[in-house]
Amino acid sequence: MALNVVIGAQWGDEGKGKIIDYLSEKSDYVIRFHGGNNAGHTVINKFGKFALHLVPSGIFYPKTKVIIGNGVIVDLHVLLEEIKMLKKRGIKIKNKLFISPRCHLIMPYHKLLDSLYENAKGKGKTGTTGRGIGPTYSDKVSYNGIRIADLMSPKVFSEKLKIQLAVKNKILKALGAKQLSQANIERDFFSFREKIKAYVLEPLPLIKKTIKNNQNILLEGAQGTLLDNDWGTYPFVTGSTVLTGGINAGAGVPVDKIDNVIGVVKAYLTRVGEGPFPTELANNLGEKLKTIGGEFGATTGRPRRCGWLDIELLKFACFINGFTKLVITKLDVLDSFPEIKICTHYTLNGKKVNYYDGDANFLTKIKPVYKILKGWSSPTKGVTKYNSLPKQAKEYIKKIENLVGVKVKYISTGPKRDEIIKI
Ligand code: GDP
Ligand code: IMO
Ligand code: MG
Repeated sequence: MALNVVIGAQWGDEGKGKIIDYLSEKSDYVIRFHGGNNAGHTVINKFGKFALHLVPSGIFYPKTKVIIGNGVIVDLHVLLEEIKMLKKRGIKIKNKLFISPRCHLIMPYHKLLDSLYENAKGKGKTGTTGRGIGPTYSDKVSYNGIRIADLMSPKVFSEKLKIQLAVKNKILKALGAKQLSQANIERDFFSFREKIKAYVLEPLPLIKKTIKNNQNILLEGAQGTLLDNDWGTYPFVTGSTVLTGGINAGAGVPVDKIDNVIGVVKAYLTRVGEGPFPTELANNLGEKLKTIGGEFGATTGRPRRCGWLDIELLKFACFINGFTKLVITKLDVLDSFPEIKICTHYTLNGKKVNYYDGDANFLTKIKPVYKILKGWSSPTKGVTKYNSLPKQAKEYIKKIENLVGVKVKYISTGPKRDEIIKI
């Protein structure tokens, strides 16, 4: 049996979707355990190109089943559209996709509140995806959430909705936003209920059985370590626990069964939305990374900010998640860079400081210190054998391994499933 966890090591969009699709072949279950449709996981395989927001990226293998775990918050409209799209493109969903009844629902007022808070913050906005993530998780922790289980019983759903609307409509009115009608929401959600109920199932017995039968489970992380609600660059974070520890609460998987925690690391660094980014390249090199790397959000289409790899942040991600292996993605994007910089550490007023010594504001003051490496200036795109990599590319990988102290197990050299090196 193997229980593997895949976690984004940076600010999201590291290429988790590609890696999960690749690793899922041997998994009996692939489980998402947090986040919502703020995630956009790109998969390119023999069925085509997909940007998945809620359905786990392991859905493409005939024997692999997928679970949307209880820690995920669900926009039913988005999920149903995703299911429809997958079915239309020939992907089997029936008896393969399960959704925990404990999942909280993203309601229309959550999406409105998300944008109202962003507007209120003005220049200090988080730069959210606008999907209602923060407000839905706030309602969950303050016992005001509505769960899929509630929707399964229309009477319970209506009662809970009535209480929420009594409060939410007052807030919306005070902020000059439109009022929401109980009847309209009920009409939409009761229609969603009919379409979704076939997939709703408490997954814990399946998970217990899988462990008992020594089968394989893969946990699919969303977002990235630096967006974690506690350990990310607060308040420029997301609403969930992104870290390895989230699998316990968010999927019902016992932590003592974990075999591997795989950190997915982009060979450089990107960030969407606001917040500090010490190694950001706000110049033509950043533009070059964005263009060659196709760095535009899979969810919102927003351009991603680009910069050099930051070892200080990566060391932190390795420690806090307990990474046992790393995957380096998008190595090929660096193919035409004559020089590649790595930030090895930070200083403040000439003294060495750590990421965790301060807050988001502190990160805007520190100075990243770089090591300059010679680029390889030759194509690595599609390379599948480690020995076929140019010398300098191997040195770059070794440098990362040595600096963070975790072995690199896979190197991704292109967006397609088979453009990967296993070391
Ligand atoms: P995720 O959110 O971590 O799943 O990552 P995204 O899908 O949002 O963004 C990663 C982008 O990089 C997608 O467009 C992928 O198709 C692409 N990608 C993944 N791995 C590689 C790689 O090794 N090389 C290149 N050039 N593109 C890659
Ligand atoms: P995947 O799974 C990159 C960012 C948003 C914003 C902050 C808060 O594709 O890697 P939210 O809507 O969650 O309240 O926004 O988090 N963010 C992501 N950035 N990849 C993601 O997911 C992200 N999910 C949220 O841009 O800065
Ligand atoms: Mg993404």
